[in-house]
Amino acid sequence: MMSGLMIDPYDHPDGVDCVYIATSMYHDDEVFTVTCDCDGDAQCTGSSCTCVCTSNVNYEEGKLVEDKLNGRGSVFECNETCRCDFSCKNRESQKGPSRDLEIASSGAKGYGVFARRHILRGSFICEYAGEISLQNIRDKTSDWRYVITLNETMADGSTTNTFIDATKFGNVGRYLNHSCDPNCVLVPVRYDNVTPKVGIFAARDIVEGEELCYVYAQHDGDLSDTPCLCGSDTCKKFLPLGCYKGS
Ligand SMILES: C[S@@+](CC[C@H](N)C(=O)[O-])C[C@H]1O[C@@H](n2cnc3c(N)ncnc32)[C@H](O)[C@@H]1O
Ligand SMILES: [Zn+2]
Ligand SMILES: [Zn+2]
Ligand SMILES: [Zn+2]
Ligand SMILES: [Zn+2]
Repeated sequence: MMSGLMIDPYDHPDGVDCVYIATSMYHDDEVFTVTCDCDGDAQCTGSSCTCVCTSNVNYEEGKLVEDKLNGRGSVFECNETCRCDFSCKNRESQKGPSRDLEIASSGAKGYGVFARRHILRGSFICEYAGEISLQNIRDKTSDWRYVITLNETMADGSTTNTFIDATKFGNVGRYLNHSCDPNCVLVPVRYDNVTPKVGIFAARDIVEGEELCYVYAQHDGDLSDTPCLCGSDTCKKFLPLGCYKGS
């Protein structure tokens, strides 16, 4: 069983009224999904690992596989009940954020997150950490700007919404801005609960100094009245409202 040691060297900028958490908080009990009894050498990369079998291989050479980067297939990582240790190759999102990030001013957008070094496509950037809820907290929270809504279509065709509120508790993930031409994607990742956490992954290679951005919600016609300052050629002019489609 692993220790759950996550290395996260970041903090909130001075004056931000938010408690730093390295990973999302559930308000319900932990419900483990699957478990494996691989030993340390097996590293959970093949079909002998129950966790890998549940969602097929998630990571190759530390990068999220192509299908999952494109929103196809779910990601089940190893969890606390598994026998493997922290060197397991199926725990990328549990190792903490990339060390190559910097929280800095992004002009009129407020703070943003920038790459300190070249980041390869498929790399885990960080979690979008916050308070996880299955209730619609978007209307209740004091600041909807830090709430993401993940909308997933399950195998039986039903849909589930998961809300992550980074207003009062959050990590470096709450500082990524929106872009209509993003270099990152959100991917639901499950390990200690049937309700997913959300990982932010590099959707393409990102060069040193580039700002890291994702699409806040896939455009379905609902736009807010906040002007979008992403500056891309395909800019929709206003920030989107609505859900992020997880699958
Ligand atoms: C999750 S926060 C991102 C971090 C934020 N910039 C900060 O300083 O804390 C979301 C807010 O950032 C700003 N923002 C993000 N992307 C933007 C964009 N493309 N254009 C304008 N404002 C943006 C908006 O105020 C939005 O409500
Ligand atoms: Zn494992
Ligand atoms: Zn395993
Ligand atoms: Zn496992
Ligand atoms: Zn835009």
